[in-house]
Amino acid sequence: MPCVPAPLIAPSILSADFAHLADEAEAVRRPEGNGADWLHVDVMDAHFVPNLTLGLPVVESLLKATDIPIDCHLMIEDPDRWAPPYAEAGAHNVTVHAEAARDPRMLARDLHAAGALAGLSVKPNTPLEDWIEVLRDYDTLLVMSVEPGFGGQSFMPEVLDKVRTARRLVDTGHLKVLVEIDGGIGTDTVEQAAEAGVDCFVAGSAVYGAEDPGRAVAALREQAAHASPHRTSPTRK
Ligand code: DX5
Ligand code: ZN
Repeated sequence: MPCVPAPLIAPSILSADFAHLADEAEAVRRPEGNGADWLHVDVMDAHFVPNLTLGLPVVESLLKATDIPIDCHLMIEDPDRWAPPYAEAGAHNVTVHAEAARDPRMLARDLHAAGALAGLSVKPNTPLEDWIEVLRDYDTLLVMSVEPGFGGQSFMPEVLDKVRTARRLVDTGHLKVLVEIDGGIGTDTVEQAAEAGVDCFVAGSAVYGAEDPGRAVAALREQAAHASPHRTSPTRK
């Protein structure tokens, strides 16, 4: 049996206590393993989405406060201009929205040059087909399973067709992206997302709404691992 990576779990601090972000990062950190793989940070500008959260100064402080790799999800206009500084600051993965980027291929190059992985996100109604060529320049694909803007919304199962398409393209060697899903992921939805082929699961309210966020992360990973057919296939490395 080949060595297949475990599913990644990325708690979203959108559902955490913004007055205690360092403690909230610590609550999902497990140095011995089984904790958060990435910490998902939602940057919203009140233009691309109807909500306002936090920006670069807070991300810079978080980078100093935790050693969990930071997964920045930029729901902002003009990411061509504003995204590279998050990579320069030390974010592990910087995801921009396909609907907002002017020159997504150049943007991926800028993010790579600054030392980060480059992520491309599509909203629920954005077809994947339009972005497959561009995704050749990206490391992660973030499929939104709610309309971006707020935590605690209901999962939209119809986006799983995009996950299945992306999974097929990765498994046949046409794309190299890690497939990430964001929105409404919890104990009741993580399995269907895993079955469709997701590699990395963002979860906000399901983690930070739980009594023990660290245990919630471990439980989601276990559920996802059990339901991931592509992880047990003897043909996939
Ligand atoms: C929504 C954000 C999500 C949000 C998910 O626009 O991108 O990352 O935190 O929250 P839940 O997991 O509660 O749906
Ligand atoms: Zn997000």
